[in-house]
Amino acid sequence: MENTTRLLLRHEALLRDRGVLIVDADDAALSGIQAASLVIHSDDCSLAGVQSSLSPALPAGVNLAIVILPKSRERLRFLLAALAGQITEDRGQLLEVWLVGAASGGVKGGASVLEAMTGGPVQLLDSARHCKLYRAMLPPKSFSLADHQQLWGHDGLEMTSYPGVFSHGRLDEGTELLLSALAVQPLSGRGLDMGCGAGVISATLARRGLEVMAVDVSAAAVAATTTTLQRNNLSATVLGGDLYAPVSGRFDVIVTNPPFHDGMQRTTAISQQLIQQAPSYLRSGGQLFLVANQGLPYEAWLRQAFGRVDVLAENRRFKVWHGRVRY
Ligand SMILES: C[S@@+](CC[C@H](N)C(=O)[O-])C[C@H]1O[C@@H](n2cnc3c(N)ncnc32)[C@H](O)[C@@H]1O
Repeated sequence: MENTTRLLLRHEALLRDRGVLIVDADDAALSGIQAASLVIHSDDCSLAGVQSSLSPALPAGVNLAIVILPKSRERLRFLLAALAGQITEDRGQLLEVWLVGAASGGVKGGASVLEAMTGGPVQLLDSARHCKLYRAMLPPKSFSLADHQQLWGHDGLEMTSYPGVFSHGRLDEGTELLLSALAVQPLSGRGLDMGCGAGVISATLARRGLEVMAVDVSAAAVAATTTTLQRNNLSATVLGGDLYAPVSGRFDVIVTNPPFHDGMQRTTAISQQLIQQAPSYLRSGGQLFLVANQGLPYEAWLRQAFGRVDVLAENRRFKVWHGRVRY
């Protein structure tokens, strides 16, 4: 259980009679909180029984929103703005908001954002387990998604991204190397963009005429890729979920800049699974193109999965790997 969840559980007496919305939940144990009604929003599409969407929807009857401190202040501003945009007169014009987060995650800075968005005051309700819990009253304010999105271009395509999406507002250096290596490869058929982010790989493949499926575990990324494709008049199937869970059928190519984070934690476990299972989702002769930081231990997993693997491009920081199913 996360320390932030433990801190919240110390306040169950205050929650018992409240209609509670938890925003940007990161811990399955949050569903154990006892409240008169409890709705959980999360960016994680793989969690069952939660509202997984780009921004939280404030259901009728909710009079307390508990925001779990997100990674960036920009996303916190976005989440609070989305809540403020849904406050109606019947809620008494102000929504009580709690913000909980770890000191190491920058919860004090989060409290400053809360103060700026609410006009203050912000009350410190509790502090324990290296975490803090703040309380403030959020006034209504009209919300426009366009005020929070970032647009950026690459090779004649225009991408849209939202707060919380990987490499928000710019092309990642690793993805750039991957796309330049792909540009000289003859590609056709069905393509899978695993971990699609803002959709730059999906849009590139779709423009080249591939039938594209894009997958990401993040609801913000799913929304961003969907908008990116629409903005460029391209089509693809965009799905939210954990790696291959939402995927059906086999592909001619899988293209990926794989994740190296699970929430706040750095991990190579997701990429390991992505690589090991890739051959089962490729047709005979199908290919995996993957970019990774130099020094990450992917070569052994790639060799196990594909036998022979090649490096198509590399620079000081990144390598583009290529494997082909030979049976
Ligand atoms: C390094 S980013 C690459 C994003 C995008 N393809 C690009 O190149 O800009 C990895 C992406 O994988 C997603 N991701 C993380 N864990 C995942 C999982 N278990 N299943 C699917 N996608 C995941 C992240 O949300 C993130 O968008």
